[in-house]
Parts: sequence; structure tokens; C-alpha cells
Amino acid sequence: MDRPYKMSDGIDSWNTAIFLYRSALKEVSTKVEILNDEFQQVHQYNPIEYIKSRIKSPESIVKKLKRHGFESTIDNMINRVNDVAGIRIVCSFTSDIYKLAEMIGKQNDLKVISVKDYIRHPKESGYKSYHMLVTVPIFLSDHIIHTKVEIQIRTMAMDFWASLEHKIYYKFEGNAPGYISRDLRECSNIVSMLDAKMLQLNEAILQAKEAQTEEKAHA
Ligand code: GTP
Ligand code: MG
Repeated sequence: MDRPYKMSDGIDSWNTAIFLYRSALKEVSTKVEILNDEFQQVHQYNPIEYIKSRIKSPESIVKKLKRHGFESTIDNMINRVNDVAGIRIVCSFTSDIYKLAEMIGKQNDLKVISVKDYIRHPKESGYKSYHMLVTVPIFLSDHIIHTKVEIQIRTMAMDFWASLEHKIYYKFEGNAPGYISRDLRECSNIVSMLDAKMLQLNEAILQAKEAQTEEKAHA
């Protein structure tokens, strides 16, 4: 039962692979929901605004493999495409992103394969988000398969920017005129300012509330 299998060991059908990715998404989504519920229970506050998950479409998988010069085989999909199963966690504040990432990293059964911090080191495009590639064990009737899931964690403002940038990028098929790319980077800076301001406001509100409670207690 506990002999660990890598996904590439003997998975020879598309349906089996997709079934594993679907199961992995369920496992990781549930874990994240539980962390959010626990936070609510302990701190009366939930760090997550919403969670989205998706399985990459066959067309996108084929396109990505082609872009990287690989044949469209199941083996290549499993070994070369890290985001067949993807989950996006959208948080209220930047600080929540790091709290969540730490909590996810501490889950014993998840293995963190890689982390990309595009918040501290934004992409050339202006893209900001925190990425974790993890594997989650899927318990089948007679063996376990460690399955890859890409987790993207970002604030609502970062998500707003990424969605619109994605649309614009697609319109230009990657060849947006220089001034548009510049403006998009500028918008990304505005997004960071907005996130910083909201975080500041939230901290100020929490402090003001605490002071009020203390005042009441002493009255
Ligand atoms: P791909 O970009 O997917 O080929 O893989 P990678 O190994 O370069 O991973 P990376 O962490 O750079 O990006 C993975 C995912 O992040 C993408 O599929 C997008 O969802 C998102 N992403 C990365 N860069 C950008 C960007 O410039 N704009 C937007 N809107 N999303 C991005
Ligand atoms: Mg990329």
C-alpha cells in the first residue's frame, strides 16, 4: 500500500492521468479550505477571498508541449507540464499570502517541489503572484501516487491585474506595442500601492478597535 509511485510509473492512459489530477485538486482544495476555516475559528478572520481550480485543457497542454519542443505524449505531459492541475488562492492582503504559503508548506503529506516568489521578484511583465509546485499523495486501492499541483497565491488586486493583462496579451499574441507593456507595468505598480495601502488601513483599523476595546474595559 505505501509503496510510492511516481506519476510517470505506468500511467499510460489520458483518463487515468486526468483522474489523478482531479483527485489532487480535490485534496489540495480541501486542505486550503480547512486552513481557512481554522483561521476563522481561531482569529475570527478568514484570509481567503476565493479559490479557483482548473484542469488545463488538452489544447493548452498540447500547445505548451509544442512551445517547449516536446511531443504530445502522456509521459511528456506528466513530466514536463507542471500546471495540468492548478489552484488559485485569492487573498485579502499580501501578508495573508505568506501566512498561507507557510501553512501549506508545513503540511506533512505535501511535498513542496519549488517556490517562485513573483511578489518580491515580479516578472518583466509586471506579473505578481506567489507560486508553489507541490505533490500530494493520492491513495488508490493498492498504491499511492504523488501527483503535481501548481498553487498560485495572490491578492484580489494582483488577480485583477493578471486577468486583464492576460486578456490584453492574448489580443496581441505576445507582441503588445512597447507603450502598452509599459502602461501595464505601471498598473502593476499601482496595484502594489493599493495592496500596501489596504494592508496599512487594515492594521490601523485593528489597532483602533483594540484601543476602543481597552477603553471600554477601563470605563
Ligand atoms: P508557463 O509560464 O506556464 O509556461 O510556466 P513557467 O514554468 O514559466 O511558470 P511560471 O511560474 O512563470 O508561470 C505559470 C503561470 O503563472 C502561468 O500559466 C500563468 O497562469 C501565470 N503567469 C506567469 N506569468 C504571467 C504573466 O506575465 N501574466 C499573467 N497574466 N499570468 C502569468
Ligand atoms: Mg512562464
